[in-house]
Amino acid sequence: MEILKGKKILLGITGGIAAYKSCELVRLWQKAGADVMAVMTPAAVNFITPLTLASLTGREVLTDTFAASNTGIDHIRAARWADLAVIAPATANTIAKIACGIADNLLTSAVLASRAPLVVAPAMNCAMYENAATQNNLRILKERGIALVGPDSGYQACGDIGRGRMSEPAEIFRQTASMLIASGQNRRMVITAGPTEEPIDPVRCITNRSSGKMGYALAQAAAVRGWKVKLVSGPVSLPDPVGVETVRIRTASEMLEHAWREARDAECFIGCAAVADFKPSSVSESKIKKTANDGFKLSLTQNPDIIKTVAALDNLFTVGFAAETDDLLVYARHKLQSKNLDMIIANDVSSPLTGFNSDDNEATIIYRNGRETPVPKMSKEDLALRIIDAINCELAETAALSESEENGRQ
Ligand SMILES: Cc1cc2nc3c(=O)[nH]c(=O)nc-3n(C[C@H](O)[C@H](O)[C@H](O)COP(=O)(O)O)c2cc1C
Repeated sequence: MEILKGKKILLGITGGIAAYKSCELVRLWQKAGADVMAVMTPAAVNFITPLTLASLTGREVLTDTFAASNTGIDHIRAARWADLAVIAPATANTIAKIACGIADNLLTSAVLASRAPLVVAPAMNCAMYENAATQNNLRILKERGIALVGPDSGYQACGDIGRGRMSEPAEIFRQTASMLIASGQNRRMVITAGPTEEPIDPVRCITNRSSGKMGYALAQAAAVRGWKVKLVSGPVSLPDPVGVETVRIRTASEMLEHAWREARDAECFIGCAAVADFKPSSVSESKIKKTANDGFKLSLTQNPDIIKTVAALDNLFTVGFAAETDDLLVYARHKLQSKNLDMIIANDVSSPLTGFNSDDNEATIIYRNGRETPVPKMSKEDLALRIIDAINCELAETAALSESEENGRQ
């Protein structure tokens, strides 16, 4: 499926062992319809030949700022051409140069001259990665909004075991594809987060232990990936995500009202809030007094089903969450069907390491067509990016499919 048709990617390759993996990355982008131009540092040509990359990309590979064939502006031409620049692998040396704004070869010059978003996939020995200089340089890159992919941990070519291995090409492809799909578009997403509070009287309420962390991480990840995000949040103690329009509500009815209104103009809705299933049938206007020994009975009424109501809207990609303690996948598959969702994120909230209040989570992404992708334990921020990327790819595939069906009819 050509989800990246028409997208132009500048691939920078530096002098690291992982350079051979760049070929696989080029193939993944091309299979998705992207046009790739490779730029290599002088060190990189010791690891992989420009001929290999020229054959794969079908384009001249730029390696030398002062080559006789260079009209003198190759680095500017490459910089202006790209929709996205990706350096994979990125050596400690090149990362340091970018952090300092050094432009002493064609790749570093092109990166400095480019206004395109930049993605860096570090790849180096674990001691080089842990070195304070490298860590400081990576922090500078991050602060400038440069996206880092990886590195992974594991066995390294030099025999060491540790963090520094370049992320697998499939992972770099997934993240870069998502950035390209979302970039420059005014697409709207609505996300609900946190618990709801159902008042019993002016001082008491029914609520739950949802911290809102997952929903807030999703809102931030969607904004990072270029979505225009409206976050409808129950009472939590988190700050508003940057670049996200956040509205704070208390009850399930208020959440439904806002979510429904906003979702009508949106392309995607994620129901991540832990909505109270029931509310008190009536709310006392004054504080209910403690009575002697005769107990207290509370009558409850069912709350509206927010996600099912919103999922009934036409042309809205709807994502739900199944937070369970038992029979997680069975329940999640049933919820996907019964609420007419496009995707559901199944997560086990029984473990203190991945549940409501923790910083980590692990999940299984279940698609409408029955496909299931387990996601191992990771921070809620990383899981949020995975989920947004999965949504972006799914939406792009659907759009590409309907375009090719349309072309077939003409
Ligand atoms: C066999 C070999 C493997 C290397 N692998 C890496 C690597 O994976 N990561 C890294 O940062 N440097 C690695 N280096 C060192 C870089 O090639 C060196 O720092 C070089 O100056 C990088 O230049 P560049 O950043 O302009 O490509 C390696 C060197 C050799 C000889």
